Amino acid sequence: MMPSTFQQSNSLHAAIIMDGNGRWATRRGLPRIEGHKEGSKAVRRTVEAAPGLGITTLTVYAFSSDNWKRPRDEVQQLMALLYDYLRHEKDRCVAQGIRLSVIGRRDRLSPLMRAAIRAAETATAGGATLHFRIAIDYSARDTILRAASRWDGQTAMTRDAFLETLADLHHPGVPLPEVDLLIRTGGEKRLSDFLLWESAYAELYFTDRMWPDFGADDLRAAVEEFHRRTRRFGAVPVAATGS
Ligand code: IPE
Ligand code: IPE
Ligand code: MG
Repeated sequence: MMPSTFQQSNSLHAAIIMDGNGRWATRRGLPRIEGHKEGSKAVRRTVEAAPGLGITTLTVYAFSSDNWKRPRDEVQQLMALLYDYLRHEKDRCVAQGIRLSVIGRRDRLSPLMRAAIRAAETATAGGATLHFRIAIDYSARDTILRAASRWDGQTAMTRDAFLETLADLHHPGVPLPEVDLLIRTGGEKRLSDFLLWESAYAELYFTDRMWPDFGADDLRAAVEEFHRRTRRFGAVPVAATGS
């Protein structure tokens, strides 16, 4: 039976830094790309499990702006995998009511990739079960800089106005979803320029599990841990105020 904690809130934004593909492959004597291929199966499993765990927005880090520094072959193979993923998952997303969108820069992606993104976003625009966001050529610092550079310098920059600008860079008219639960697989404990603004009060969850091995049970364990935590947002917990 599903623990009752999953019904506690009606929105949960989980974000995942999907790390460890390369090490997963290397440990098996395989080329790194095999780890990325297995990793895309883990993405599928995660997307399928998310709605049942109360997750309403899921953002996954697929390719960082710093990942362009990788060998040309690996970059090309990663882009080809992402392209295949977008083309193949589109129909499955439509069938499951999943809205798929991509965050990050588009100007350095190939025209084919840009077209595949547009097609997937358009076909799935009506999905209401889960908003599944894939970060490609994404850098949180670049996003914040781009939002800041839109400021006219005349009016006072309020937090709300900045937030709106930041949100507009991703999905015009849609409020910026704060991250509730940030998961990183692969054993490293860092953010690597992912959703820095949105994760200001995110609960952090690190696991040694390599991304290709990640599955529904791991996601469930992370969500259960999230529900065991007490979020305070800087305030004193209600039980401790004595009122
Ligand atoms: C994450 O796995 C996938 C991407 C960054 C594209 P890595 O490729 O970083 O795997 P490790 O960290 O080298 O094991
Ligand atoms: C972060 O992983 C980016 C993605 C998972 C897409 P990296 O493997 O690129 O991060 P670092 O280099 O270990 O910080
Ligand atoms: Mg890595």
